[in-house]
Amino acid sequence: MAPVDPHSFTDSSHPFATHVSLSLYFDFDSSTIHGSALLSFPTPHSGPIYLDTRSLSISSVIDPETLVPLPFSLSSVADPIKGQNFTVFLSNQSSFLVAFSTSPSSSALQWLSPVQTFNKTFPFVYTQCQAIHARSVFPCQDTPAARLCYTACLNVPNQLTAVMSARHIERRPPASGEAAMVCDDALWCAQGRMVEEFTMEQPIPPYLFAFAVGELGFRDVGPRTRVYAESVPAVLDAAAKEFAGTEDMIEQGEKLFGPYEWERFDLLVLPPSFPYGGMENPRMVFLTPTVIKGDASGAQVVAHELAHSWTGNLITNKTNEDFWLNEGFTTYAERRIVEVVQGEEKAALNTGIGWRNLNEEMERFNDNMEFTKLKTKQEGVDPDDIYSRIPYEKGFQFLWRIERQIGRPAFDDFLKKYIASFKFQSIDTDMFLNFLKANVPGIETEIDLVLWTEGTGIPPDAFEPVSNTYAKIVSLAKEFIHGRMLRDDEVSNWHGQEWELYLENLPKSVEASQVAALNAHYKLAESKNYDVKVAFLQLCISSGCKEYFSEVEKTLKEVGRMKYLRPLYTALVKDSGKEEAKILAKRVFGEARECYHPIAQGVVESIFSKHM
Ligand code: BES
Ligand code: ZN
Repeated sequence: MAPVDPHSFTDSSHPFATHVSLSLYFDFDSSTIHGSALLSFPTPHSGPIYLDTRSLSISSVIDPETLVPLPFSLSSVADPIKGQNFTVFLSNQSSFLVAFSTSPSSSALQWLSPVQTFNKTFPFVYTQCQAIHARSVFPCQDTPAARLCYTACLNVPNQLTAVMSARHIERRPPASGEAAMVCDDALWCAQGRMVEEFTMEQPIPPYLFAFAVGELGFRDVGPRTRVYAESVPAVLDAAAKEFAGTEDMIEQGEKLFGPYEWERFDLLVLPPSFPYGGMENPRMVFLTPTVIKGDASGAQVVAHELAHSWTGNLITNKTNEDFWLNEGFTTYAERRIVEVVQGEEKAALNTGIGWRNLNEEMERFNDNMEFTKLKTKQEGVDPDDIYSRIPYEKGFQFLWRIERQIGRPAFDDFLKKYIASFKFQSIDTDMFLNFLKANVPGIETEIDLVLWTEGTGIPPDAFEPVSNTYAKIVSLAKEFIHGRMLRDDEVSNWHGQEWELYLENLPKSVEASQVAALNAHYKLAESKNYDVKVAFLQLCISSGCKEYFSEVEKTLKEVGRMKYLRPLYTALVKDSGKEEAKILAKRVFGEARECYHPIAQGVVESIFSKHM
């Protein structure tokens, strides 16, 4: 009797479910899903099985063969991180059927009313299950250690389309009695409804379970790629243009890391409240609309989520304690793809920006050094609270260090072999290190593997990358302090990344007149590129330029991507003595809260509790 994962009730002495068959009835009026889950195990089991749930209500558990009810219990007190332990008592069954309902506050789901959508006509709902939110959609062993396959029937209003991170089977009218389990009047329930059926035949960790339901349209952009978004021609056209180079990146990925194993690589552009830049849901990556900037720079986020198709989705971290195995490898793989499709200088700039982020994050965690390690202890810790760039960039640095040691050709062979050896498995840091030592004999005498994986901070043999663009921009930012403005010819080929880097390197408090001059010339506060706009607004807040507060407010109400919410709210509430900024932050959050995904709501609340 021992938990396999600090974030899950799943017990090591119980079998893992290897398949779940889901029936989900979407009730948009009450923001509720009424569902059933048929969980199957490889062998019959007697005794308890622990499952994870969060704000689910369970109405029955039965043996699907005999239809006899099975005993179950739901812990009366919810753990603030893990939720409620749902225990089912089996006597020699190898499957059981649970009937349940989600709550409107399900942490994975964002329910958007029609006015919160682009077309303002139909509602919309989507999932974000990473890190530990799948349990708020259906009862499961919600640990990446337990991989499972699934089928799903989504019963939705017939004006809406459902998509999933799975193979689409068919769209059909509900079969008679199909809704009986969740609705007393099955005939009424079938009216005006359609069922969308899906199957995922490859075993995935539960955090990769994903769907979206709304008024969706699509454009084909490659032989295995379709871009989905709200059905607005202008949005679809812009998305199709931004992601036109996707097939090229998939092919480069295959050359570098081996065959693409998921058949399709579709993209879904979500409403602006999507809390992340991208989420690597298999077969269908979820993206924020803020990556569409009209200059194909969204390709970098796509390169990252695509890279997860090998590192993360094929080989998965066993628990969040080894999160760097997902994100460090993916950051490395992303930069290898970017290097081929956008050139070495672009990849070097990304590495430079990453290095800067790593150093900043080390500052942020200087009172919590545990989370500056690659291998972390997360007992009693909510993974959403400690999310940072450290696993990405320190993980990247570690792999880059190994590459420098053994040379790129040998490292490329090693990577391919690593992926082929562990595909469809969930592994931990020690399994990686053992594989490394077995395949690169003597590596532990060249690189201090223990320091890299168990030590805090940045190891001395990490490498500050050399990027000409990076160095040039940083020196221009330094000169700004001495009153030197930019020349037009210096910025003529700058995209969002270059501007962002420039703005972030300016001193935290510049003169208000300088901020105004910068904006007068480059219209940064009105930039369509949120990376630039938010970097500029941060500067405005820290320099006390209150005339930009209305733009800050507008931004916080337009987008729900945490990359923007985090720095803006932090800048507003951080320094003591800025009463006006704090009052603004409180009021805006009060008004915008409902428009944010529950995960983003939680993150803003924790910024407030830390600084106020
Ligand atoms: N898997 C992550 C997003 C994530 C991490 C969601 C942890 C929930 C918990 C995704 O692959 C990611 O890293 N997205 C980045 C994109 C960027 C690195 C290009 C993001 O959203 O900022
Ligand atoms: Zn990632």
